[in-house]
Amino acid sequence: MNKTQAQVSHVLKSLARKEEWKHRLQQSEELHDILLKAANRYVAGEKRSDGFAIARKLQAKGYGISLENIGENTKLLAQCREAKMEFDQLIEDVGAIAPGQTVSFDLSHIGLSYQFDTAYGHLIELAEKANEHEVTLMISMEESTKTDQILAVYRQAAELYSNIGITLQAHLFRTPDDLRKLVQLPGKIRIVKGAYQEPSHLAMERSDYLNNRYLELVDHLVSTNHTVSVATHDQKLLEEMERRQFLQSTDVEIEMLYGIQPSQLKLFKEKGYQTRVYLTYGHEWFLYLCHRLAEYPENIYTALIDIINPSLPKVDDMY
Ligand code: FDA
Repeated sequence: MNKTQAQVSHVLKSLARKEEWKHRLQQSEELHDILLKAANRYVAGEKRSDGFAIARKLQAKGYGISLENIGENTKLLAQCREAKMEFDQLIEDVGAIAPGQTVSFDLSHIGLSYQFDTAYGHLIELAEKANEHEVTLMISMEESTKTDQILAVYRQAAELYSNIGITLQAHLFRTPDDLRKLVQLPGKIRIVKGAYQEPSHLAMERSDYLNNRYLELVDHLVSTNHTVSVATHDQKLLEEMERRQFLQSTDVEIEMLYGIQPSQLKLFKEKGYQTRVYLTYGHEWFLYLCHRLAEYPENIYTALIDIINPSLPKVDDMY
């Protein structure tokens, strides 16, 4: 990224955190409809059935699926409960596609922004349901202010249920220590670079140093025969993991976000590696859209085209 792109990225990530923008968007039908056209490239739609329809197609093509109802920072108990019930339903739907699929979520969507015990209680209920339907739950990682709490909820629950996994962000300086503690637990570990704007004393920027850190984390997991999702679109990083024989391990899968580098994921699938598409749906897509634009500012041009002259590629053509 050049300096201007980095500035744009910074602004978009900050914008994503501004609650008043989310409210304005929710209140203005016009603004909502305009930006939804740009979000549609990365989000299956606003309804569960939208996510389900695309998930079915991808599964039929041989991809694993991670489905998420987007949302975070739910402050009222009734809304936490509502979100948890949506995930109950999602687990049933995803379980009906095929065994071994994944449901992903932010713990702050189901209770962590209300009360620790609410998040933990909801997670346990979801894990029970997921067990019945042979579904894996993957907890996403949020801003560093929540990392301790997220890991604490995860640890307690993962001691009881092996079908819960966790996401770790390679960009946080603390992550190698966290990883060493978490490999004791059976749950899958998803390694991402990290999407949130963090202070420089806590996290590193995109760099070769970060890529090396990413490789070290995956190496640790592969060498301890731990299940791992390498969740990145970074072609060079993936090629390096292939060269080091990480991708060849049956414990490793490559996971990418829906709509991003689909042809690259398809090539890895055709080579015989395990691949998974992370697919989101729901009304709370504003933060998600901002992050996708921030990661790759060229996407802003694509977003403009999508808004003015929408012609989204079909799932069959992309994957
Ligand atoms: P990086 O950002 O360095 O990009 C490398 C290359 O990939 C770019 O040069 C470009 O070619 C391509 N690329 C990356 N992003 C693109 C985009 N938006 N559009 C087009 N091309 C793009 N983060 C987090 O903090 N908590 C979480 O729980 C998760 N969960 C998660 C799950 C899954 C399955 C994935 C794939 C990612 C996440 N993330 C996440 C997001 C993650 O932290 C990171 O922000 C993005 O994956 C982008 O980083 P890359 O590893 O792709 O590399």
